[in-house]
Amino acid sequence: MPTLKNRPESVIDMHQVATRFGDHTVHQHLDLQVPRGEIFAVIGGSGSGKSTLLREMILLQKPSAGTVQVLGVPLEDIEDIEALALRQRWGVMFQQGGLFGSLTVLENVGLPLHEHTDLGDKLIDDIARWKLSMVGLKPEVENQYPSG
Ligand SMILES: Nc1ncnc2c1ncn2[C@@H]1O[C@H](COP(=O)(O)OP(=O)(O)O)[C@@H](O)[C@H]1O
Ligand SMILES: [Mg+2]
Repeated sequence: MPTLKNRPESVIDMHQVATRFGDHTVHQHLDLQVPRGEIFAVIGGSGSGKSTLLREMILLQKPSAGTVQVLGVPLEDIEDIEALALRQRWGVMFQQGGLFGSLTVLENVGLPLHEHTDLGDKLIDDIARWKLSMVGLKPEVENQYPSG
């Protein structure tokens, strides 16, 4: 795992990535680097391979060839323990929300802290309220459920 002293230049580094589904080639000779602090957009027509590329960055899919490194960690043959540590460091926001419909807004926001830290319920609720206030949500939304 990279430390503060040993921070990779690229947060995401893909090298010579190829993705094939049967005889359909979606990516070939694909190189990209996302430097720390940079906002990077992937633009392309429907079916051009944007979602597949993103899935390859977050361990949901393996490319057919080439290498992917995130935060300096090669994703190929990654150990479970290292994958868990990486997943705790990145965030993914889905187009359709990706929230748990049976949990309240507050419970959804606090869930990763319940899963991955030893913080108490009260502190987690306070942090989740603070996060909601940071994005401009009013306090009354916390007990509402995300709509489908
Ligand atoms: N699991 C899969 N099996 C077969 N073909 C797939 C699979 N996932 C994506 N594809 C194909 O790969 C191409 C790129 O898909 P996708 O990454 O979803 O495109 P985009 O997000 O740019 O619209 C499409 O032709 C799609 O049909
Ligand atoms: Mg897509």
